[in-house]
Amino acid sequence: MRFSASLLLASLVLSALAKPYWRRQETDPTDPTDPTDPGGADGDGDGDDDTDADGNVPNLGDGNGIPDVSNATNPQCVPFYGVRDAILGGIFQGRCGDSARAAVRLAFHDAGTFSLALQALGDPTGAADGSMIWDPTEVTRTENNGLQTIVGILAPLPAQLGVSPGDILHLAGVLGVLACPGGPRVDAFVGRGLPLNTAPTGRLPNPDDPVPLLLAKFADMSFSVRSMVALIGAHTSGKQRFVDPARNGSSFDSTVDVWDVDFYGETAHGTSDPNVFMLDSDVNIAGNASTKAEFHRYIHNQPDWDEDYRAAHFQMSTLGYNVTTLINCTEIMPASINLTTLTINGTVDPTLLEAATQKYRAPWLVPSS
Ligand code: HEM
Repeated sequence: MRFSASLLLASLVLSALAKPYWRRQETDPTDPTDPTDPGGADGDGDGDDDTDADGNVPNLGDGNGIPDVSNATNPQCVPFYGVRDAILGGIFQGRCGDSARAAVRLAFHDAGTFSLALQALGDPTGAADGSMIWDPTEVTRTENNGLQTIVGILAPLPAQLGVSPGDILHLAGVLGVLACPGGPRVDAFVGRGLPLNTAPTGRLPNPDDPVPLLLAKFADMSFSVRSMVALIGAHTSGKQRFVDPARNGSSFDSTVDVWDVDFYGETAHGTSDPNVFMLDSDVNIAGNASTKAEFHRYIHNQPDWDEDYRAAHFQMSTLGYNVTTLINCTEIMPASINLTTLTINGTVDPTLLEAATQKYRAPWLVPSS
């Protein structure tokens, strides 16, 4: 089904099913053996319905790993097929471009203001609640420089699609990962209500922070050292504009268009690619005694990173929420594009990459003129 037709169908379903979509779900979404896991449709026992375990692209819906609304299993997820298409097609155009990258960063800047310390005090804290596209002041903060365009694009969607800002923003985050070939299929949960409050300032890390401060900030968000190191691997598809404006548009690794582990190896060992820009924080985390082992774990180790990143991003996308109150709509997520079959002599082949994009992201691509 082409994007426009799919979007139309999903929009019709969306308006027909204008009813609350929150419902209790599985007992423990982080436990792959949880018998109440609504995922696991592929039966590979890893608690999701992705066939990463045997390396195949799942046969979801159309045979190209693209679940279709006509095969929806949870009625409460039906409206989210249209939301998926609006984001993956209407905004990302099926590709790992500026909007997809910005959406991943935005997910972190929205959720990363969550603080266990503030929560314990009963003070207003951040959360994965979409306040970045709901409160007009947050995006004007210096720490959020560069996110204005994606915020402007996503902000109207809650009203247009009848979905909460948190669901829009964090679906955009997990779809942004998937838009990048190699990006894993992070579980997609929905059912967040209106944002809790304006997020507090000064919680997000910046590249000048020493490693102990970075560790403290991530621990206060509830992340382990390993999760922090896995999460910053999102820089695999990132570019900088404001840290060194003279090098605006330089990327954090030499393969910015794919979600691979080159970021880890190049940050730890350096690269001769003049277009690569390394953040001080990433270099410091790669070399610091308390983080080095975790950082080096992922060099040349995409499977470990995929698994850890999926778990950490899911945790990030639900910060501040009791996940048992949310709804697992991972069924809307297309399959990850597996880089292994696209790699020749250790390098992703551009022709194979484009062919895979055409095949597995077909409904959302904009035909070239
Ligand atoms: C130590 C923690 C982190 C620091 C200090 C940091 C800092 C930065 C900085 C300074 C930029 C460049 C902004 C610009 O100049 O345009 C950036 C970009 C980016 N960051 Fe991070 N970041 C951190 C963690 C994360 C995490 C946890 C994620 C997501 C899971 C993430 C995702 C991204 C992405 C995708 C970009 C590229 C955005 C684009 O290309 O438009 N970052 N980050």
